[in-house]
Amino acid sequence: MAKARQKTEAKASKNKLTEAQIAVHWKEEKYFYPSKKFKAQANLTDPSFVKKFSEKNFPKCFDLYAQLLDWDKSWKKTLDASNPPFWKWFVGGKLNACYNCVDRHLAQHKNKAALIFVPEPEHESAAVITYQELYKRVNETAAMLRDFAGLKTGDRVTIHMPMIPELPITMLACARLGVIHSVVFGGFSGEACGLRAADSGSRVLIYADGYHRNGKWVDHKPSADIAVETARKEGQDIDKVLFWKRYPGHYRSESPMIVNRDFFVEDILKDYRGQTVEPVSQDAEAPLFLMYTSGTTGKPKGCQHRTGGYLAYAAGTSKYYQDIHPEDVYWCMADIGWITGHSYIVYGPLALGATSVLYEGVPQFPDAARPWRIAERLDVNIFHTSPTAIRMLRKAGGDEPKKYNYHFKHMTTVGEPIEPEVWRWYYEVVGKGEAVIVDTWWQTETGGFLCTTKPALDPMKPGSAGPPALGIYPVIWDENGQEVKPGTGKAGNICIRNPWPGIMQTIWGSSERFVNQYYKKYCKNPKSKDWRDWPYYAADGAVLPADGYYRILGRVDDVINVAGHRLGTKEVESACLSVPDIAEAAVVPVVDEIKGRVPEVYISLKPGVSPSKAVKDKVVSTIETIIGKIARPKQIHIVPDMPKTRSGKIMRRVLAAISNHMDTGDITTLANPDIVAQIRELVQGRVTGPLQDGPEDIKLFGEEK
Ligand code: WTA
Repeated sequence: MAKARQKTEAKASKNKLTEAQIAVHWKEEKYFYPSKKFKAQANLTDPSFVKKFSEKNFPKCFDLYAQLLDWDKSWKKTLDASNPPFWKWFVGGKLNACYNCVDRHLAQHKNKAALIFVPEPEHESAAVITYQELYKRVNETAAMLRDFAGLKTGDRVTIHMPMIPELPITMLACARLGVIHSVVFGGFSGEACGLRAADSGSRVLIYADGYHRNGKWVDHKPSADIAVETARKEGQDIDKVLFWKRYPGHYRSESPMIVNRDFFVEDILKDYRGQTVEPVSQDAEAPLFLMYTSGTTGKPKGCQHRTGGYLAYAAGTSKYYQDIHPEDVYWCMADIGWITGHSYIVYGPLALGATSVLYEGVPQFPDAARPWRIAERLDVNIFHTSPTAIRMLRKAGGDEPKKYNYHFKHMTTVGEPIEPEVWRWYYEVVGKGEAVIVDTWWQTETGGFLCTTKPALDPMKPGSAGPPALGIYPVIWDENGQEVKPGTGKAGNICIRNPWPGIMQTIWGSSERFVNQYYKKYCKNPKSKDWRDWPYYAADGAVLPADGYYRILGRVDDVINVAGHRLGTKEVESACLSVPDIAEAAVVPVVDEIKGRVPEVYISLKPGVSPSKAVKDKVVSTIETIIGKIARPKQIHIVPDMPKTRSGKIMRRVLAAISNHMDTGDITTLANPDIVAQIRELVQGRVTGPLQDGPEDIKLFGEEK
């Protein structure tokens, strides 16, 4: 008996995959080389600039990014690392982010387009906002926020707005005052917004009455009422809600305004016409904004970004990796409600005095050629989007780009791994074989790019983010802290050995969580005051071939990357559990042709409740109410029981394998191994096809750590 058990356990431990043990079999892709024509104008062509970022010049090398900004008072020390992992960047320096993105461009570029707003309805013409007009509008808005809303430096304000110019205007007005903005993605529900508002301690919410999305008018006002109610339940009173109107002069919501709480911005702004507000000179370390993101727990965390370091990093990477020149028309199709929009629609491009295009709608409206028509009309030459958008545009209109006369010199992909086949379509068809591609790997927490090729200088490899960005020193470790050497074909956890200016300061209100989440895993000595002992743990799996091109495999924690958006499985599970009929819930990622991964939900019901479509519908509507439509599961499976370990933990890894038609691996150590076959039959039916060798992130998903 004992022998048999030993044998089983030995087999189980052999079968238990760790990140480092997974051999990643993938075909090495051929390099693509940038055209000579492009090289001539790339911002990084000076090789001595690149050399200045060699490791021996750390951290001083980052002064080169900070020098792209105007400082009221220059910094005394580049990095103060005396209290790891709470780094201080550009210590003693003072600046204002809004001044850097707006005022300082007036002298030479006041008539240049800062923002070009493209409404989703195609019959509405694009609206240009010059730096001069941006300056006026930001100042008036700042005066209103200060004098009418009573906001002062250090206060937080939650902004739940769609992609309209008033969103960056509001953000910049906050930055002018030193008010910390927290933008919540427009597609999140009112409840999700209210929870974030409460966590950040916001007394003021800023909304829009509605917006266009995929051909429909979305009435956004009711979401504000829910947000206020949710915040109140959490103990946070909201004094004022300010509403921008999508169409000035016309209120397009059916929902009534609440007297003394809800105000139309256009009414109030009348009192502030022509007013200017002195930009508040901020300490480099003063928080600029919060951006909530999903992690391993049920509660989203507010990533707190600093003013000086963040802006320097966003500006530096925009200049050298987005390669923005003064004459370029730059279009990033992300949403400002995510970090990509903050760094690479608003702060980075505007700090450089560039022209940034803002598109209200979805890429495929009214058809899959819309982005190419916009590019042709505005003569966009730098384009930035996600693999999900690329996959969708390819599927819905693979030949469309050929019909339009636009020419990109540069294209970015961000947010998810891109399949080499999709990369090649992006390169050959969208980029017409002329544009370089940068595949940029980074995260909400990191403020800007961590891995990417140098545009026009490094060869490109489809599916690989490539070498580290300037001044970033990554390493891959296995679970035991052993380095996974380049060229071994093994995957491991990618970490960054050194601090950099774009890294978040902390998690709002929870420094302990910040340390535990990002620094504890590979900290060599918690008492150490040496930054070398405090590498940043990214929670992404990666593999590194001998050529030094990092290939990112995906999350190794309980985060599902749905269409490039982070969704915490625990958040979805706790939403399911708020339905009274549900006993247990488990959420797993499933491969999706367009969105990369989508969540699938497994639930078991409380005794006496019978399975029905009504229960499933209730779960879906609850998830949409608590989180938003982006979390809508692909399927819901009602199961008699969950596969569990002997200690009662749900084995999500087994469920993920079933949902993806993959091998479940060894299940003999489960408390209830028989349930696995039952669930497989329930999900896949009786006819089971051959099992697939699925992607690495799914193999790793739900692995007990
Ligand atoms: C994933 C988005 C592969 C990764 C900027 C990361 C990527 C998460 C890439 C962060 C890429 C981002 N290739 N995977 N080029 N870029 N990711 O916080 O799993 O919304 O951890 O930031 O997206 O998502 P977040």
